Amino acid sequence: MTDHQQDPLYLQAIAEIAAVADINTLNEVKARYVGRSGVFYKRLREIGNLPKEQRAEAGAMTNAIRLAIEQLLNDKKDALTASDTLVRLAKENIDVTLPGRTGGGGAVHPLQQTIQRAVAILSTCGFAVAEGPEIESDYYNFTALNQPPEHPARSMQDTFYFADGSLLRTHTSPVQIRYMENNKDNLPIRAVSPGRVYRRDHDSTHSPMFHQIEGLWIDEQVTFADLKGVLAHFFRAFFADDSIVVRFRPSFFPFTEPSAECDIRRGDNGKWLEVGGCGMVHPSVLSAGGIDSSRYQGFAFGMGIERLAMLYYQISDIRSFFENDIRFLAQFKQ
Ligand code: FA5
Repeated sequence: MTDHQQDPLYLQAIAEIAAVADINTLNEVKARYVGRSGVFYKRLREIGNLPKEQRAEAGAMTNAIRLAIEQLLNDKKDALTASDTLVRLAKENIDVTLPGRTGGGGAVHPLQQTIQRAVAILSTCGFAVAEGPEIESDYYNFTALNQPPEHPARSMQDTFYFADGSLLRTHTSPVQIRYMENNKDNLPIRAVSPGRVYRRDHDSTHSPMFHQIEGLWIDEQVTFADLKGVLAHFFRAFFADDSIVVRFRPSFFPFTEPSAECDIRRGDNGKWLEVGGCGMVHPSVLSAGGIDSSRYQGFAFGMGIERLAMLYYQISDIRSFFENDIRFLAQFKQ
């Protein structure tokens, strides 16, 4: 045992430090012993009053005690910090086997994904995207599309009317007229128009609100063969399947002549599936759009987005798209 270990100050410090249980008290003890106005500085100052021959030894002794106490303080601090950490860890104990909390990040709705894919394909064929209002006038939705009031074909597309006579558009075809009006001096035109449409329909394959995508190509020489070529290319690209065959069935739309329903079949043994209507734009429709029908002609087509998405994702009930069931929607996260 060295001398300083019997020093009363040292012994008292050991006892006090040993009794300390938290960092705050330790800091207070530290200040009291080795701080600026602590007992050690007092003691060092007192050394100056000792007879000269005793000063060196007393100084060395005091310093030895101070170093020893500082060491004790540091050791105690380490011990307290370590146990603090243990206590905190114990308190903050987490169950690593619990499922993690994810950010719940959103995703693009499958119908919007379908629209984006369809538009991307048609854009590569030179079609520019055009949009029109969902609340439409009777004129653009029917009359300008060769369906004057009392035309029997109107009854096939009953919709929701406003008191002022405007209506929720039943198809994207009114955008044909709007686009022609705006671009009649900018021919030829090639436009694709996706969007929401509304009808008085409701069952597992018909929804009162659904989406269509409309295509319009007007030029001097555009033919029915171009229409079939564009659609065949579109469906093969959309379904990433070169075995797709396109079939036109004669049909009727007031705004096209001749008109056709477009069916597709995958592979040799697949079933024919109807995917949309199409035809050569009726001369009256070109005139309504301000285009000279003796010089220009073109084709138009309109497809149901839900129908395309149901075929692509193999979904049997159209209502799944609108129920907002997260378990359904999460399957389409990209
Ligand atoms: C039309 O709406 C025409 N405007 C299409 C057209 C455009 C023809 C340009 C010629 C030239 P149709 O009523 O057949 O046609 O509807 C087109 C597609 O919309 C249908 O093939 C179907 O896929 C989809 N569709 C129609 N009604 C509903 C509905 N209630 N719910 C979901 N999809 C529907």
